[in-house]
Amino acid sequence: MQKNPYVPIPVDIAKITTEVDTKDIKTFRFTFVNKEDEENFKYLPGQFGELSILGKGESPIGIASSPTQKGYVEFTVQKAGVVTSTLHSLEEGARMGIRGPLGNSWPLDYLEGKNIVIVGGGFAFTTLRSLLNYMIHEDNRKRFGEITVVYGARNPGLLIYKDELKEWEKRDDVNTFITVDKGDEGWKGREGFVPTVCKEVAPSSKNAVTVICGPPIMIRFTLPVFFELGFSKENIYTSLEMRMKCGIGKCGRCNVGEKYVCKDGPVFSLAQLDQLTPEY
Ligand SMILES: Cc1cc2nc3c(=O)[nH]c(=O)nc-3n(C[C@H](O)[C@H](O)[C@H](O)COP(=O)(O)OP(=O)(O)OC[C@H]3O[C@@H](n4cnc5c(N)ncnc54)[C@H](O)[C@@H]3O)c2cc1C
Ligand code: FES
Repeated sequence: MQKNPYVPIPVDIAKITTEVDTKDIKTFRFTFVNKEDEENFKYLPGQFGELSILGKGESPIGIASSPTQKGYVEFTVQKAGVVTSTLHSLEEGARMGIRGPLGNSWPLDYLEGKNIVIVGGGFAFTTLRSLLNYMIHEDNRKRFGEITVVYGARNPGLLIYKDELKEWEKRDDVNTFITVDKGDEGWKGREGFVPTVCKEVAPSSKNAVTVICGPPIMIRFTLPVFFELGFSKENIYTSLEMRMKCGIGKCGRCNVGEKYVCKDGPVFSLAQLDQLTPEY
């Protein structure tokens, strides 16, 4: 975290990758203008940053790279409104700002020694990608048990991180299941909704934790599958997306009961969410 949490850290866009056929989801790789900022930007998978564009505003976005990737930080952003559309119009070399890292992380200490089931849908796979790349890094792989990944999108053109998906599928220390709701003529992979594939894969709940991110409808149909498999609410984690402003627990924009999603979250277990007000 930088010294004054309200002041954005200057960064340059080093690389832009268009992730999907519709071109409205891009991954931005940022490098730090000052070496000192790069060294101070110590983050963990699951945290987010406020991407800041002068004269436009800020947007909270999950960090998509892993801390094991040195020298840069990546965010995958869907074009939505003012800030994200402006970001999409920028080119490599443009200078802007980031505040962060902010929020808590995926519960790495708790995950250690356990079998991990990662379930993602659509472009909400960003901080799960960070987690997966962190866990499979040679320095960390032994700290975690079996790793299973179920990731799906509506169609093949909407899968993000396509090159990495292929790499993960090739590894024998990760069970990777990629699926699309509906394939096209070039698609030779699996077809089916994420909850259905989770049911088919049927990961054991013994000594296992699942982390789930995706559209609300996917989560709604996936949770019963994991309950049926015997996963307790303590062992199911997700990440909340709320409207945010300060990102540091000061403005009260994101609070649910006495919890601030920006500071106490965005990562919560279902057991923790049960303690919040009924709308969550
Ligand atoms: C912790 C966290 C992590 C996030 N991670 C990502 C990410 O990895 N990639 C990504 O593309 N987006 C992510 N989001 C959502 C992202 O913050 C919003 O899409 C973005 O702030 C919209 O800003 P804007 O100025 O472009 O849009 P605005 O002009 O502010 O709004 C455009 C539209 O987006 C809706 N919107 C604005 N903010 C949010 C929000 N927080 N959640 C849902 N809808 C919103 C508005 O209601 C409106 O319909 C995340 C949000 C949070 C809180
Ligand atoms: S965004 Fe200000 S308190 Fe959470």
